[in-house]
Amino acid sequence: MKILIINGPNLNLLGTRESDVYGTKTLEDINESLKRLALELGVEIDIRQSNHEGGIVDLIQKAKDYAALVINPAAYTHTSIAIRDAIAAVDIPAVEIHLSNIYKREEFRHKSLISPVAYGQISGFGPESYILGLRAAVSIANAKKGTS
Ligand code: DQA
Repeated sequence: MKILIINGPNLNLLGTRESDVYGTKTLEDINESLKRLALELGVEIDIRQSNHEGGIVDLIQKAKDYAALVINPAAYTHTSIAIRDAIAAVDIPAVEIHLSNIYKREEFRHKSLISPVAYGQISGFGPESYILGLRAAVSIANAKKGTS
């Protein structure tokens, strides 16, 4: 089973970026813990990051070999109809994740255009959101496999 993990804009700056909000772990640190969990769960993961909306759309369109997606769309969460439509277009369950609790922050972050097409959302657990997201994605993909 393969799971695709997609990170949106500015997440490559984790560790130095607004550490009061996002913490001090780098994306590399998070990726290492995801790789350890993937080994433990016996799944394959591919991890990508893009600062570009179209690049993220391309990744989603090419994701047909993956059983599920874990996506932190970052700022595109609140603006991107294109990413939302890409998720809706592919028949792959998506888990939307955020480090911060977007509902506790500025009002413009309260609206996610992605949530209506996501299987579910995990928001506010810091780097643990990624771990919970991968666990959720594997469990959804296993359930889907069982019914197909
Ligand atoms: C974020 C929340 C978004 O509002 C923000 O634009 C990000 C990161 C998070 O993980 O908490 O870049 O997706």
